[in-house]
Amino acid sequence: MEAAGGEDAISFQDEAVDKSIFKDCSKIGFYRRQKLIPRKNTYRALLDSVTSGKDSTKFQIINEVNKVPLLAEVYGIEGNIFRFKISEIAPLKPRYEVSDVLIQKPVTKRLTPCTEDTGVLVLKDDSVNLKFHITANPFTIDLISEDEPVLSINSMGQLYFEHLQMPPKHRPSTECKEDVSTDPSQESQDDLGLWQEKFGKFVDIKANGPSSIGIDFSLHGFEHLYGIPQHAETHQLKNTGDTEAYRLYNLDVYGYKLHDKLGIYGSIPYLLAHKLDRTIGIFWLNASETLVEINIQPTIEHTLSPKGSVLAKQKVKPRADVRWMSESGIIDVFILMGPTPAAVFKQYSILTGTQALPPLFSLGYHQCRWNYNDEQDVKDVDAGFDDHDIPYDVIWLDIEHTEGKRYFTWDKKKFPNPKRMQELIKSKKRKIVVISDPHIKVDPMYSLYSQAKEKGYFVKNNKGGDFEGICWPGASSYLDFTNPRVREWYSSLFAFSEYEGSSDILFVWNDMNEPSVFKGPELTMEKNAIHYGNWEHRDLHNVYGFYQQMATAQGLIQRSKGKERPFVLTRSFFAGSQKYGAVWTGDNVSEWGYLKFSIPMLLTLSVAGIPFCGADVGGFIGDPEPELLVRWYQAGAYQPFFRGHATMNTKRREPWLFGEEHTKLIREAIKERYALLPYWYTLFYRAHVTSEPVMRPLWVEFPKELETFSVEDEYMLGSALLIHPITEPKITMVDVFLPGFEEVWYDFRTFVHWEGARTLKVPIALDRIPVFQRGGSVVPMKTALGRSTGWMTHLPYELLVALDTKGSAKGELYLDDGHSFQYLHQKQFLHRKFLFCDGILSSSCADENGHYHSECVVEKVLILGINKQPSSVTTSSSDGQEKQVVFTYCSKTAVLHLEKLSLNVGANWEIHVK
Ligand code: GLC
Repeated sequence: MEAAGGEDAISFQDEAVDKSIFKDCSKIGFYRRQKLIPRKNTYRALLDSVTSGKDSTKFQIINEVNKVPLLAEVYGIEGNIFRFKISEIAPLKPRYEVSDVLIQKPVTKRLTPCTEDTGVLVLKDDSVNLKFHITANPFTIDLISEDEPVLSINSMGQLYFEHLQMPPKHRPSTECKEDVSTDPSQESQDDLGLWQEKFGKFVDIKANGPSSIGIDFSLHGFEHLYGIPQHAETHQLKNTGDTEAYRLYNLDVYGYKLHDKLGIYGSIPYLLAHKLDRTIGIFWLNASETLVEINIQPTIEHTLSPKGSVLAKQKVKPRADVRWMSESGIIDVFILMGPTPAAVFKQYSILTGTQALPPLFSLGYHQCRWNYNDEQDVKDVDAGFDDHDIPYDVIWLDIEHTEGKRYFTWDKKKFPNPKRMQELIKSKKRKIVVISDPHIKVDPMYSLYSQAKEKGYFVKNNKGGDFEGICWPGASSYLDFTNPRVREWYSSLFAFSEYEGSSDILFVWNDMNEPSVFKGPELTMEKNAIHYGNWEHRDLHNVYGFYQQMATAQGLIQRSKGKERPFVLTRSFFAGSQKYGAVWTGDNVSEWGYLKFSIPMLLTLSVAGIPFCGADVGGFIGDPEPELLVRWYQAGAYQPFFRGHATMNTKRREPWLFGEEHTKLIREAIKERYALLPYWYTLFYRAHVTSEPVMRPLWVEFPKELETFSVEDEYMLGSALLIHPITEPKITMVDVFLPGFEEVWYDFRTFVHWEGARTLKVPIALDRIPVFQRGGSVVPMKTALGRSTGWMTHLPYELLVALDTKGSAKGELYLDDGHSFQYLHQKQFLHRKFLFCDGILSSSCADENGHYHSECVVEKVLILGINKQPSSVTTSSSDGQEKQVVFTYCSKTAVLHLEKLSLNVGANWEIHVK
């Protein structure tokens, strides 16, 4: 099918991408080179070169074979973080160092050097009882916390550093011999990809030659690893064996295969490791193509030879070896010492920032399709939601809304009056999102193109001209978002005066920003394309999309003169993208397996610092059967970013097109989402201020329970709700694991309760997925729903108080205007805390800095787990007024219902249950 938009627009092929388009590890030159390093290729630290300053300790290390010295730097960073860098002392050319990802220069603290033995340098951080043992020969580092080894660096001898060299023909004859580190051994230089590398018909000519780096980490006592998104893989990382590393290389993989370590769309080079008494993180700050090999040796018990009549047993501690390899740049790695999951999340956010607080509307339901055809279609779909009593917040316009895929324009025939269309949507208190991709149609008549061309804002090819590739509009050039001036200019394009037909309800979607280049190697940009600062694309490929989202978010903030929060969805991302908006998992397929995989994929994004993430509901490619669609809505309603989307040649699938029965089920799922919005918003506030993920794997909430470490089919939403989506057809019963030895769990619908540390057989019908509330929590909800979040501002609250085994519970509620930065600049917010203890539920202020006037009341309170019928229930407000409350108590379910309360949400009050 030819996509509309001009003679040279691109045909769309409805088939999953041919895997041979992408490289497996064996086709990657720097991987092959690093795998060849002989053990004898060791490094030695020159301890007499140590200099110790306020910020860092520096020393040289030298490769015993080529004798090239490298500079090693060790930094202590406030917050129990350590940074370790290795770079060339005098490189032939500068090597790329990632900028703009760390939110500030890390605040360093002094490590005290002391020498315990010859050949060993010890650096101490007494405040956290941590030692860095640096052994000179062979060069290794051991991190020892409270006398226990946590991690060793280079203990496997896999440090690898290709220093920049002159191209062979320019070298004086004495130097012509290759270093051992790049020794072609049995392979020809061509196969090793030193100065050029072939893949299919593509030849990557490398002006800088080989520049790859790598090193190994051994994590002592660890066998559960997570993180390094994005892959269509399990949440828990697997052994990679000797041939199949996890690849971090942003690629456009349409209909990506499941159980695959190929890199897709975005990369976060950040790995977490967890064991019963410690969580740590390794953040590898490098934006070039990166491979991660994992080798976990689990706990094993050896039976030793019999001693007398008794068989002696020896338990060998587990260990996880992690090897990082990158194509270029330097070794720059942060070790986050935890020791808890929450501490690691905090440490990572000290470096890369926290989730931007999303505008409230973006936590509602989003309706997308490639494409909503014209204004009338938009109007009809919008009305369809009202007609079918289904709340939704945002309608999305894909590439076809533009004039021939020229972003920032409107197709005049289909969208003759975008302002009028937006006024209608605005009158419904809803928003629109439009797409804006990084490729710009080569068309001198297109002002965006001609301006960018004239200003020199496109990525260049290696001959100095503008890089041209093929994407949706046909021949396109790509904005160089790594250039701060390009970002500034791009941001300015979102000004209302610049972006014709835009309004304050229009928000943005950045797609194809890996970047996707249809006829390029692996469907992306040639690695020798040239960016701002003369850097090769090779050096910064993985951070390209990050920069586009950064510029877009900035543009949306600027257009409101700094007042309004932006919403930007991006497909490509890097560490730190959480600061700019949301991420989704790209082109998934309408199959049960993809629904199932949405859980581990989103959990992995969540622990890697991207809480605002989602997967296309219904599956992007293909036509879901109604049961799958219903199940997907039920799962999506409990995932952070909730958007239905479908590709262009699929059947229409608005929620009401599958018969009354299915419409009802989808309506209920979406309504469950809307009822819980106060809880969602509070969780996002917490993610924003404390960096706790919204969607959490069980191990994060139950870090001391081994059984939780491998659970992938259920998760926690915040610390109060356990969600177990149904991801298989025709299910009548499902096993739900309820963790926690001292926990009690309440079925969120029937309120029947169960003790924790058990697997429950839950009967399943099509109308529900299992959701349990954890005893000890208070979940804020709305008592009634509106057509969108905008209609719900003044609606009353309900508190669901679930008591723990001690009869207590606590929770919180955050609220503000839902859209502006006043919560930040004027402290216009309310942060309340609720506590149930000794028969009293109290509401008090959780943050005295916040002030916000809300007329809203808490109208309803349900207390779950009250064992006997109370004799009286009264409320008392801060002015001492007491009122009797009419209540009902159900002894069968042990639930106390309090209704018609009228307690202001921002006031201090108590409810006494006697
Ligand atoms: C890409 C996106 C998809 C979008 C399509 C057209 O495939 O992943 O969501 O609909 O491009 O813009």
